[in-house]
Amino acid sequence: MIDGKKVLYSGMQATGNLTLGNYLGALKNWVTISDEYETFFGVVDMHSITIRQDPAELRRRARTLLMLYIAAGLDPEKNCVYYQSHVSGHAELAWILSCFTYMGELNRMTQFKDKAAKHADNINAGLFTYPVLMAADILLYQADVVPVGVDQMQHLELTRDIAQRFNALYGDVFTIPEIYLGKAGAKIMSLQDPSKKMSKSDENPNGSIYLMDDPDTIIRKFKRAVTDSEACVRYSEEQPGIHNLIDIYCASTGKTPAETEREFDGKGYGEFKMAVGEAVVAVLKPLQEHFADLSKNKDYIDSIIKKNDEKARYVSTKTLRKVQKKVGFPEQIR
Ligand code: TRP
Repeated sequence: MIDGKKVLYSGMQATGNLTLGNYLGALKNWVTISDEYETFFGVVDMHSITIRQDPAELRRRARTLLMLYIAAGLDPEKNCVYYQSHVSGHAELAWILSCFTYMGELNRMTQFKDKAAKHADNINAGLFTYPVLMAADILLYQADVVPVGVDQMQHLELTRDIAQRFNALYGDVFTIPEIYLGKAGAKIMSLQDPSKKMSKSDENPNGSIYLMDDPDTIIRKFKRAVTDSEACVRYSEEQPGIHNLIDIYCASTGKTPAETEREFDGKGYGEFKMAVGEAVVAVLKPLQEHFADLSKNKDYIDSIIKKNDEKARYVSTKTLRKVQKKVGFPEQIR
């Protein structure tokens, strides 16, 4: 608890360009629930280097992501949007927690197995201990809730196990975080392969809508979206392409799948795709405009970064000092 409010922590990696899936599935949700909590949203750039990155590109993307958090509606005066790499406590706590995490536990992580298979030439120790750093992110701020997608559930469960193990040894040091799963239906799939999640690392740019795509590009991608030959706008598992377009339409307009079926009853896919494209253009327009404004204001963004770094450091240091004391590190003389 901070000032009588529960704490919420979440973060995103600064790799790839953010997609409509990241927005409708995560960011938009964050904005909706942020008012009720004391929030920390990390740009988790330390996690990003578990895969080889171009330094200039990583720096640029990290800043873009931080600005996108703000452009999407997270008021940076109220929500602590910050860079993970600016707060050294993340690395320090991760080290300590790694001594309370078993190899066997990390070996079971499916994301590690997937990423190791994908980057067989660079299976580094950081990729293996990635979930420990994530646990440190969350536990440093004594988070009560962590909104994440289902793909991060295993990491969240590990975080809880580590925290409980530590607490059992040393007393109530960490808050045990709850998983906050977003509303169903917000999982957005690729426009080119509706069996795959829309991903910022997809090689085919037509599968994803990027948050910075201009209206013509958005409409063109929806026109090309993979559907089927049923010629009927129906919310059915047998029509995964149309199912996904309905999900996108509903998440963008607030309508329900049943309403959407009725609205497009007897109409062709061409017309439906056009409507989905326009709905998405309308959702992204204010975000893009806000982003363009922020881009012109370097000093403002810099001042936010400085201020939020300080806040994140202040809150996280309290936890870190407590943990260091518990495990037996000598007290620092000040
Ligand atoms: N691993 C998360 C992802 O890839 C990102 C992340 C890092 C995170 N630290 C976090 C999410 C802490 C929530 C809380 O999506």
